[in-house]
Amino acid sequence: MKRRLALHALAGSAALAAAPLVVRAADAKPFKIGFILPMTGQSASTGKQIEAAVKLWMAQNGTTVAGRKIELILKDDAGTADTTRRIAQEMVVNDKVDVLAGFGLTPLAFATAPIATQSKTPMVVTAAATSAITEQSPYIVRTSFTLPQVSVSIAEWAGKHGIKSVVTFVADYGPGIDAEKFFKSQFLLNGGKVIGEIRSPLRSPDFAPFLQKVADQKPDAVFVFLPSGQGAAFMKQFAERGLDKSGIKLIATGDVTDDDQLNDMGDVALGIVNSHHYSAAHPSAANKKFVAAFEAANKFRPNFMAVAGYDGMRVIYAALAATKGAGGGDALLAAMKGQVFESPRGPVLIDAQTRDIVQDVYIRKVERVPAMGNQLYNVEFDVQKQVKDPAKTK
Ligand code: DHB
Repeated sequence: MKRRLALHALAGSAALAAAPLVVRAADAKPFKIGFILPMTGQSASTGKQIEAAVKLWMAQNGTTVAGRKIELILKDDAGTADTTRRIAQEMVVNDKVDVLAGFGLTPLAFATAPIATQSKTPMVVTAAATSAITEQSPYIVRTSFTLPQVSVSIAEWAGKHGIKSVVTFVADYGPGIDAEKFFKSQFLLNGGKVIGEIRSPLRSPDFAPFLQKVADQKPDAVFVFLPSGQGAAFMKQFAERGLDKSGIKLIATGDVTDDDQLNDMGDVALGIVNSHHYSAAHPSAANKKFVAAFEAANKFRPNFMAVAGYDGMRVIYAALAATKGAGGGDALLAAMKGQVFESPRGPVLIDAQTRDIVQDVYIRKVERVPAMGNQLYNVEFDVQKQVKDPAKTK
């Protein structure tokens, strides 16, 4: 009996001695990042790309920042806004995440914005690209791009390269309407004419009837925006309808000549001139390092979604470090604003006023690159430096 008591006493004092350690561990509670991504459904490639990039960032930069253990929570919303909203609510209320991130399509970002505002949780948009997203909550920061940002450059290029008439062809929702509008106004300024505007439903990628309309209107070029994941199906139907041999040029945003699918499109994609903020063939040292590490860890090439996910993690890590591990919604948000760094895509800035990304936009041409395994790449040949979202500078 006595011995047992003595043992208890010993155990008690050991626990006491250990107490300060326990308190310190409890103080440094994990820092939770809640990613909501389409891992299934039509936009599954967006989820796949961003997840791979987030994991690469953590493998390269560790899982502790300023003494806080980083805990990644990643959930699949299948690209459905009701699901995104429910998951965001659960992440904020039950998991008590410090940051929300991801958002593969514009409606999913819109659905989550009020939750970010109410809970004062920074929401890092690493995919969706309608200009107005950042205006839906003061807690939104974006590391992807906006459609106005990339559509203006290709319109200017077209106007200066003998293209006089264009039919626009876009997915019928936020980013498509942005692309249509900003392409048109810049193209008009450069002396061109938009002779037809076609919108195809986001959820039914049967492009054939719309492609027939393009063929009938006989423009010099068709300008296309479709979200990531639909480019290959579009190109297939473009060729099946004989449009590749019709003399109608295809110009696009880089969402169509997406690195995730480009190499599988085959020769039909050769020569397409398009504009975007990221190519896997961007010839900087930082990008070469990023692509090599990404391809070593995955069986596929990084695309623009991957880069935005990777940079999203950088922005979050840097903000947590700036708060010396303290975190807190408003402090993190303040530390995200104004960040400047070299991304694999080139130099970028998170504009402190708009919370949107300022970046270089490249004009590229799809080519087979002998030095890169004879694969298809978007080869950059011109650049507009430090492009702000033009929808926000007016
Ligand atoms: C959006 C989605 C995409 O896959 C893309 O390439 C561009 C924009 C969006 O829904 O905002």
